[in-house]
Amino acid sequence: MRTKALHLQNVVKKYGGRTVVNVPDITFGTHGIEGLIGPNGAGKTTLINLISHKVGMTQGQILYYKDEKEIDISNKSFDEISRLGLVRSNQIIQDFESLSIRESMLLSLATPKYEKFYNIFCDKELRKSTEQEIERYLDYFHFDNPDGHALSAGEKKLLDIIRCMLLKPNFLLMDEPTAGLPQDQTDKVVELMRRKTTEEGMSILIVEHDLDLIWKVSENVFFMAEGEILIQGVPDEVRKNQTVINKYMGEGSNA
Ligand SMILES: Nc1ncnc2c1ncn2[C@@H]1O[C@H](COP(=O)(O)OP(=O)(O)OP(=O)(O)O)[C@@H](O)[C@H]1O
Ligand SMILES: [Mg+2]
Repeated sequence: MRTKALHLQNVVKKYGGRTVVNVPDITFGTHGIEGLIGPNGAGKTTLINLISHKVGMTQGQILYYKDEKEIDISNKSFDEISRLGLVRSNQIIQDFESLSIRESMLLSLATPKYEKFYNIFCDKELRKSTEQEIERYLDYFHFDNPDGHALSAGEKKLLDIIRCMLLKPNFLLMDEPTAGLPQDQTDKVVELMRRKTTEEGMSILIVEHDLDLIWKVSENVFFMAEGEILIQGVPDEVRKNQTVINKYMGEGSNA
């Protein structure tokens, strides 16, 4: 068991008077890889958006623990939060389609460091120190043409995951990172997640509808429905829980 990484208290998000997230008290990050599951519209993405401050909370407090320090991130900006090592996936790098896969990876490192992101292309030292790491990722995922553009949705998804990993987060929020990826690439992402959590001490919270993946990788699973986290526990308990079956997996499910 690890020490906690995130503590949410009375976190509420309303859209036009409708409550879409309501989390009175929950702690994330006490295990290396945790899963967050639930039906469509449960509020999983909104919860990740609230933690990373992509959208603001209606009310609540979010505390982040890093190097034994407690940091209130409730009012910090998206960029400040990622600079603190709390990074999220699933921002497809659509704005830089004119860059090659290799260049997009390098650019991803610029966000926390430079006011003007393009300065990174002049930073020979950083380029040199990260070149090998980027090369390792390119080899690992077997990109067809690293000097071409990321064309497929799958390549963009992988690029986003690699972008996150290059930032060396303490805590990584992944919103459906493997949706649409072929099985061999999904397996590689899983292996990478395991390596990062066991060897480098990263904590990961992964949202997925691929329940086979969730049961396989998660040490702890949260079940969310109608904006609330109703259940948490080890995968074997959560998959057998009657509420989870009734509200999500349904009869005849092999999940
Ligand atoms: N910007 C918005 N304005 C109004 N309602 C929103 C907004 N964003 C999300 N919602 C609503 O909030 C609820 C939760 O949505 P959310 O995307 O967080 O669900 P989810 O659990 O991620 O679902 P999925 O599994 O389909 O990705 C939904 O009812 C959705 O329609
Ligand atoms: Mg979602």
